[in-house]
Amino acid sequence: TPSDLRDILSFTTALARAAGELILEGSDAILASGTVDEKKNSVDLVTEYDVRVEELVKDTLGKSYPLFKFIGEESYAAGSRPALTDEPTFCVDPIDGTTNFVHGFPHVCISIGLIYQKVPVLGVVYNPFLDQLYTGVKGQGAYLIRKNGALRIQLPLAKPTHLASLSKGLLGIEWGSDRSGPIIEAKGESFKRLAGDPKAGVEKGQMAHSLRSLGSAALNFCMVAQGGLDLYWEIGCWPWDVCAGIVIAQEAGGFISGSKTSPLNNIASDDVLAGRKHIVVRAIGDSETEKGVDAQKRL
Ligand code: IPD
Repeated sequence: TPSDLRDILSFTTALARAAGELILEGSDAILASGTVDEKKNSVDLVTEYDVRVEELVKDTLGKSYPLFKFIGEESYAAGSRPALTDEPTFCVDPIDGTTNFVHGFPHVCISIGLIYQKVPVLGVVYNPFLDQLYTGVKGQGAYLIRKNGALRIQLPLAKPTHLASLSKGLLGIEWGSDRSGPIIEAKGESFKRLAGDPKAGVEKGQMAHSLRSLGSAALNFCMVAQGGLDLYWEIGCWPWDVCAGIVIAQEAGGFISGSKTSPLNNIASDDVLAGRKHIVVRAIGDSETEKGVDAQKRL
């Protein structure tokens, strides 16, 4: 119920702040020691703090919500891979932006999402480095909470005239952790087109104002929610990267489209596009926006 969700929001907000403390402590330790492991390849990084933060979050949630299921990035890597059911399920990325974390680039967050009946219904994203706490609850709005107060975030509903097309947007893109030849070539082509498509006539201004890579999927969604990014597009996301951010962006009035071929397609993992609806439509075309697309083919 809405009141259950409000209680879970207070609980997960406090938990995100506690996790944030551990992330800050971990940052000092990792920057001093440089102890970083690789998961699948040399750019897919993990640290002992990813695991420690996930253990803290999983144990704390497990004690208060013993009947809820849990999907987390590090538990998944360790082999705990529960199927998504209609049961309430927490979906957690303990440190989203691990590469930033190991480099001391302060776009790093804990991302706690809740899925119910296979739909993301609550999201809490906290960046302890910049004191940015974003929350979203289905039907109850999205907020940015900082030390000096809470601000409801809501995208303007009207079409802004300065953004009649993608060409004048500020677009969030990510390089991801799969840098194999064909992937990087395809992404590079797309990025080149967005940065200034020679065929569309760069001289006529057919290019995005610029491209940004924040290095954290969750914070990209939050930046869409806040209006700082006009569009966020990524291929290769996992459910824990997107779950909380989807609720925050949607509750701020954003629109999400994702590939329907991914395993947890109803929470838009794998391919994801987020932005105001007319911008997402502009990016991938009317007919394909609602049903979800293979974004690489379109952008
Ligand atoms: C990654 C970050 C990154 C995005 C990847 C994610 P991690 O999460 O969100 O920005 O490009 O798709 O997997 O590994 O830092 O938790």
